[in-house]
Amino acid sequence: MVVSQRKNSGPCHTVEGGDDLNLSGLNRRNTPSKSGYEQKAPGFPTMQIYQNSKLIEKDTMSDENGDNARTKFPEAGSRWEDLQEELIRAKDHDIDWRNGRLPLYNYYRDEKLLRVVQESYSLYQNENALGKTAFPSLAKLETEVLDMGLSLFNAPPEAGASFTSGGSESIFLAVCGARNAKAVTGRPNIVACETLHPAFNKAAEFLGLDVIRTPMAGDYHAQPAAMESAVNENTVMMAASAPSFVHGAFDPIAEIGAVAQRHNLWFHVDSCLGGFLAPFWREIGQPVPQFDFSVPTVTSLSADLHKHGFAARGASLLMVRDAGLKQHYGFEFGGWPSGIYATETFTGSRPGGSVAAAWAVLKYLGRAGYQENARMVLDAKTRLTAGISAIEGLEVVSPLEFTSFLYRSTDPSLDLDALADLLGDAGWYAVRNANPKAIQLSLNPIHASSADDYIAAVRVASNEVRSKGLRGVENLRTY
Ligand SMILES: Cc1ncc(COP(=O)(O)O)c(C=O)c1O
Repeated sequence: MVVSQRKNSGPCHTVEGGDDLNLSGLNRRNTPSKSGYEQKAPGFPTMQIYQNSKLIEKDTMSDENGDNARTKFPEAGSRWEDLQEELIRAKDHDIDWRNGRLPLYNYYRDEKLLRVVQESYSLYQNENALGKTAFPSLAKLETEVLDMGLSLFNAPPEAGASFTSGGSESIFLAVCGARNAKAVTGRPNIVACETLHPAFNKAAEFLGLDVIRTPMAGDYHAQPAAMESAVNENTVMMAASAPSFVHGAFDPIAEIGAVAQRHNLWFHVDSCLGGFLAPFWREIGQPVPQFDFSVPTVTSLSADLHKHGFAARGASLLMVRDAGLKQHYGFEFGGWPSGIYATETFTGSRPGGSVAAAWAVLKYLGRAGYQENARMVLDAKTRLTAGISAIEGLEVVSPLEFTSFLYRSTDPSLDLDALADLLGDAGWYAVRNANPKAIQLSLNPIHASSADDYIAAVRVASNEVRSKGLRGVENLRTY
């Protein structure tokens, strides 16, 4: 592994040779696409919410005359009972995740588990995880969470871990670490398959790197040979997914690791989505290749507690094979009157609740609980596969690993966008995927309960699309 310190760069400080200041902000995002995809969606919507295919105006911003004005700062306080009612009512148009209508963003099993997370969070809601000396309770809980993660992912004794706010921050720190650990003469780059999560591009953009994306194989996996061809003298990192967001594909970690080792590169495994389910998915008999620190060439691994770990939002782990590598992404500063300010991650103040909820849910579920989650997801996937395949003109995409479920139309008279629109009208949030063109579900345990209703809804909507000859408009903006 690379160990030399990048010249002139403290951890995560500004990179030399940055662009001239551009106050309009957006232009510099239009970097040319190396993969052939648009790198930036056109325009950022403001004061608008996308709900499935429909763009709805955010009416909560209206003033008492119904004008779309800025909400005024309140003069007097309000009764909590009224505010509580308003908060609850504000959710009226949200997607009904409790009944399995939402196939991403949210992880839900049942009210009992949700209560464990909510109550553990609220017990530490007012403690700040930035202040480890003031809150030794949080220091202890966090250390135990890090240890449980390191143990789950087979990290060696000298490994280290950091508790972050989510996958994007874990990835940001890994990219920062790789950039700082290796000095290159040109603009540094990351080599990965096109399926890699955009959080790497976001991190690269902030940190002054490029991401070189290579084509996926027909089965949606990264191709190590293509990745190796893309490596050049400015490459500082190779990254792979375990699994990828859309297709659930576990990239060939051992083979990509061998490439990284040949070129002396930091190798990051992005297990943000599935890290806290994959070991248990394997334990219930599903195929999961070696993807963690048991592969000796893996330098760092990110796994989100707030996804299949079932913790409250604001919880992910970045783990490094050697705790010494943390020096490449930590931050320390003494040049102000207060003294030394030092943080291990990007954030300053951090919610103690996220740490406490992560600790509680890992202990509450344990191996047996996560295996049960895996069984529920598998049950959902098995029933959806049978049910959707039985609908004329629809085909389940294959191969799909892990919690991924995609289906597409094989019949020109069954327009997939129109189908997605109708599902949205019926309260089922329909995520549209570009390649392959399909409707995507990222399954979690609640979908075992909703699978039959979903299949019935798809059947009804398909019949309507066909009988009325409906056509929808493509809308790939999910976020
Ligand atoms: C594979 C993968 N990596 C990274 C991320 C980013 O995680 P977050 O949204 O927590 O920042 C996601 C989010 O879905 C993901 O699926």
